[in-house]
Amino acid sequence: MSELHHLLTFPKRPITEEFYVKELNDLLKSGIPATYTLEQVAEFERNEKKKLEDPNYKEEESKSDDEESSSNTTPLHIMSRSLPKDLTKSEEEVILKLMDILFEYGAGWNFIDYENKTIGDLLLEWNSSVETPLYRRLVDAGVSAELLLRVINGGEVEFLDNDNFAEFEDNDANNSQEITTEQETAEVPQKIEPISADHEDATAAHSETFLNTKLEYTDDALVTKTNRDGVMMDWETNIMKLAANTLAPKHGATVINIGFGMGIIDTFLQQNKPAHHFICEAHPDVLSRMKKDGWYERPGVTILEGRWQDTIPTLFDLDEPVFFDGIYYDTFSEHYNDMLALYDTIVGLLQPEGVFSFFNGLGADRRICYDVYKKIVEVDVSQYGLKCTYETINVEQDDERWDEVRRSYYNCPVYYHPIIRFA
Ligand SMILES: C[S@@+](CC[C@H](N)C(=O)[O-])C[C@H]1O[C@@H](n2cnc3c(N)ncnc32)[C@H](O)[C@@H]1O
Repeated sequence: MSELHHLLTFPKRPITEEFYVKELNDLLKSGIPATYTLEQVAEFERNEKKKLEDPNYKEEESKSDDEESSSNTTPLHIMSRSLPKDLTKSEEEVILKLMDILFEYGAGWNFIDYENKTIGDLLLEWNSSVETPLYRRLVDAGVSAELLLRVINGGEVEFLDNDNFAEFEDNDANNSQEITTEQETAEVPQKIEPISADHEDATAAHSETFLNTKLEYTDDALVTKTNRDGVMMDWETNIMKLAANTLAPKHGATVINIGFGMGIIDTFLQQNKPAHHFICEAHPDVLSRMKKDGWYERPGVTILEGRWQDTIPTLFDLDEPVFFDGIYYDTFSEHYNDMLALYDTIVGLLQPEGVFSFFNGLGADRRICYDVYKKIVEVDVSQYGLKCTYETINVEQDDERWDEVRRSYYNCPVYYHPIIRFA
């Protein structure tokens, strides 16, 4: 353990500004990186030992992926693990200052430590509320870093999620370093996929591949036939019910759902007796199912066959323009950029009092990412004159629900249901 790490175990109580802020500043100014990990300390010590044993020993300059430690236990992890349960308000103020200083010096918000935990996980172990000033400070750091990264990438959205989402680089004092979100999400059948992921699993990653992949309906899910990726699963039923009631709370609404899947939300929407119900669906197997189940014959239902990117713009050419009380978006294997592109379209199709919502699995692999993306959506929709609020519901933590599919795509105990309206 280095001096920096030791300091952040809070060896002295009370935690005072005079001692801790000064000490931390001194250490960082002396050149110790705010990203210095326990794994780097261990490696340093190993090398020193080897040098003692063999004076000709030379440190290897670059290491293979296998040799590279997969965890990064940063000073902020150590700090979060060491937080006293009986922290006082004034001590909390000091810790917020320490966090500010660490972030200023380039500390990352999204590293995974030796126990596969994020700083967010550790803060929530200390206090389970997402409303503590310390957790909120971490979320803000994540939002700033993500938005900064977007600027650096010239507007390209690098979507965060899942295992090892922060790649570690030995960084100095700049705040953009570790958010290299080179994805290791190859096997994650996300509904909205991380962008620029180097996916082995093309089905989940590429819309075109997905649309050419055979699907299978089981008793409680829609899956890709060979890979068993969960496209839609019935554990989401409560979420769909909530969404349908937000989009069409009264009879006679005009609604559109993008992505039919198992038709769960469309069935709920029908119960609310919409006057016009558009369904946009691109996959041939899903369209066949919709035909078989009589969706094409339902009064007031219009099926838009094809990708929404191609079919939704045709709504602008109708003789009678159509404006929606509710628009829902829940596709598969699309990227966050697709959703941003959808915003361009929906602002022209939404009634002044209308509601847009979507299946919100953004970053749902890790709670801290989920909380960061919750805010990023708020920022993004505000660019379109829209305001996003959330209704929070609990999600049953039943691991058996993933038995049927290759991998889980939702690991948070809560769901933030987005309700987006004109501000
Ligand atoms: C997660 S499912 C939707 C589940 C639906 N919310 C429900 O309640 O059952 C995603 C659906 O989006 C469809 N889809 C994927 N990309 C699409 C696109 N670009 N345009 C239209 N539909 C798309 C898929 O074929 C799939 O049926």
